Amino acid sequence: MSALRLDRLLANLGYGSRREVQALVRNGVVTLDGAVVDDADMKIALTPDLPARLLVDGTPLDPLPGLALMLHKPLGMTCSHKEAGPLVYEVLPERWRRRDPAISTVGRLDKETSGLLLLTDDGALLHRIISPKRHVAKRYTATLARPLRGNEGAVFAAGTLMLEGEDKPLAPAVLEPLTATTARVTITEGRYHQVRRMFAAVGNHVDALHRDRIGGLDLPDDFAPGLCRVMTAADIAAIFAGA
Ligand code: URA
Repeated sequence: MSALRLDRLLANLGYGSRREVQALVRNGVVTLDGAVVDDADMKIALTPDLPARLLVDGTPLDPLPGLALMLHKPLGMTCSHKEAGPLVYEVLPERWRRRDPAISTVGRLDKETSGLLLLTDDGALLHRIISPKRHVAKRYTATLARPLRGNEGAVFAAGTLMLEGEDKPLAPAVLEPLTATTARVTITEGRYHQVRRMFAAVGNHVDALHRDRIGGLDLPDDFAPGLCRVMTAADIAAIFAGA
């Protein structure tokens, strides 16, 4: 089990620079199991129960690294620093945006796509979810500009659909028509604007796109846009269930 010096731990969790957290510790606001810790050099074992035992200003320590979050991404927020507009990271508590390792999105959703978006500071977990070899399915509901023609499911399932500008066909995808102009699409890859481009390739246009499932993990019905919460071990297991 790993251990870190208290000042390094607090600085990595975004509580301030090394100097600032040393000052916090000197001021006696950090307690471990109820006793003030005044030695910033003290080695702290990173046990799962640490946040409940180590308080800063009377408040449990932030979650340790290995953090995974689910967000209901609202429309209009972007996952990319390169794009204009509010970043999804703005929904996180301010301190969490200064953590090292940093929290990043697991893949991306377009600015105009809503729904289930995962974030984590755990690089190995991130790669397990996005690696095409794992075949973790992502399910979307698309609202289309024109009625379905009827052959889209076969085209998507064929594993031969070539998107404009690419040289490798898409892996098979599943289409479930819901109404004349809405459909569920399940894909296992994460190519740029993939679902929008798939419908463009069959002569349609996506007016609205929403992701409601990753692997076996559903966006909860009562989880409003903009809400974010820490994932449980069961949530993470659900992502890989059936993959
Ligand atoms: N496909 C898209 O076109 N956009 C997304 O945000 C996700 C998948």
